[in-house]
Amino acid sequence: MITFKPISHYCSNDCLKKFECGNKNLNEYLVKYARQNEHKQISRTFLLLDNLTVVGYFTLATADLDIESFGPEEKKKLPNYPIPCIRIARLAVDIKYQSKGHGKYLLKEIIKKVISISSVVGVFALIVDSKNESIEFYEHFGFKSLETKDNTLALPIATLLK
Ligand SMILES: CC(C)(COP(=O)(O)OP(=O)(O)OC[C@H]1O[C@@H](n2cnc3c(N)ncnc32)[C@H](O)[C@@H]1OP(=O)(O)O)[C@@H](O)C(=O)NCCC(=O)NCCS
Repeated sequence: MITFKPISHYCSNDCLKKFECGNKNLNEYLVKYARQNEHKQISRTFLLLDNLTVVGYFTLATADLDIESFGPEEKKKLPNYPIPCIRIARLAVDIKYQSKGHGKYLLKEIIKKVISISSVVGVFALIVDSKNESIEFYEHFGFKSLETKDNTLALPIATLLK
């Protein structure tokens, strides 16, 4: 049975250790740091589970961007102080479950959460520091590269609310 839960509701280290998405840092983050950062109130991690197997996960945190990160059209509309954003700090799907729509499902869950957060606190954009090989995945869903940071992509909340 497929379920979706916060990592705080799920603590089996053995299951987290079996997660293998093809990227060592993303595997290691899940086992070593996701729960630590949860306790430190730094980020929130959610798991997609197939019974006790981790299918995928994402981690969200707040972030801000300098106005210089945006293109001339957006710059004209923005104030000259840090622009509030939500960062997809991590997003990964286990190799066995990739290319079956799970990444898309997780991204939709992220978007739902970010829309909900944006009703009580200002959020200009959802951003991600993408791995090179995943840039096209994010572009596929409307993320656009920023002016100043090569691998950072953004999706404005105004676009999501339309
Ligand atoms: C990137 C990743 C999360 C995608 O998850 P996934 O479950 O394989 O993707 P999905 O099956 O949900 O694909 C959704 C859509 O994105 C497209 N897509 C998936 N990966 C893509 C890629 N690397 N480049 C371009 N398009 C991609 C699919 O074709 C699909 O298109 P459709 O909606 O028209 O059918 C997953 O491959 C992964 O975990 N990779 C390794 C870790 C990683 O790089 N994470 C990102 C860190 S920033």
